[in-house]
Amino acid sequence: MTNQPTSDGGFIAHGIDTTRPSVARVYDYALGGKDNYETDRELYRQIMKIAPETPEWAKANRAWLGRVIGWLAAEAGVTRFLDAGSGLPTAQNTHQIAQSRNQLASVVYIDNDPSVIAHGRALLLDNDRTHFAAADLTRPDEVLADPAVAEMLAAGEPVALVMALMLHHLADLEETRAIVKQYVEALPSGSYVAISHACNPRDGGELNQLVTELVDKVQSSFPTLAFRTVEEISSFFDGLELLDPGVVRLVEWQAPGTESPKDAGTIPGARDVLYGGLAKKA
Ligand SMILES: C[S@@+](CC[C@H](N)C(=O)[O-])C[C@H]1O[C@@H](n2cnc3c(N)ncnc32)[C@H](O)[C@@H]1O
Repeated sequence: MTNQPTSDGGFIAHGIDTTRPSVARVYDYALGGKDNYETDRELYRQIMKIAPETPEWAKANRAWLGRVIGWLAAEAGVTRFLDAGSGLPTAQNTHQIAQSRNQLASVVYIDNDPSVIAHGRALLLDNDRTHFAAADLTRPDEVLADPAVAEMLAAGEPVALVMALMLHHLADLEETRAIVKQYVEALPSGSYVAISHACNPRDGGELNQLVTELVDKVQSSFPTLAFRTVEEISSFFDGLELLDPGVVRLVEWQAPGTESPKDAGTIPGARDVLYGGLAKKA
């Protein structure tokens, strides 16, 4: 099958369903991107009615990603990055942050969304230290067998496994823990794991009510969405050394030995949904 032309002279790559929202494209729209369709924008408008802070959440996640990748590449000496659930390219992607700190840094992006795959392949063309694996992260055996992933792990050097806003797309907690464990076991000693994740404190409070309404609204489009408690998010780091400050609001997370981020506090804590942390494998 061939790509379909659009009225504005562009094209829709084969496999991209423009009739249903895609997580990657809704998130792209939240970040001010252009790689989205009306169905994505319509769902985003519905989300905004419930959570007008959505673009701030998305920006906080990207700012956190920048701090984590920047510290790993510049301070921790990591030169290999596996970005699992990479999303559509936006400003300051993992390879741009890492390679600006260390020219030798290499990045493998992994995603299974056809829109992301089309863009990911384009990334391959102009950067020989950036690779893309089109794979479903719920199938670790297949992901770990991907040539680019396998080559990165086979070097035996520390790797940073980044799962930013990805694990809450996997519904079952125990299965998700098992999936993370399989990836962690495949990492060389001295590797790092960075996770950001949407939180539901399930305490009957304001954030609990907000995210319940939000998840209900998007349920038909994203049926596997699972917001979790801080304890559940922390459990993905089991067996690893969780670095200070632990699993906290993304806007409050600072890299070891650095100052608190300047953007902390722009979202009231009672309405801040995104948490994350960084851990090291012994
Ligand atoms: C909200 S975006 C996050 C993008 C980026 N990691 C960030 O934090 O800016 C979540 C991404 O995870 C991807 N994703 C979700 N489930 C996946 C799966 N089972 N396999 C591969 N990718 C998946 C989606 O396609 C989407 O691109």
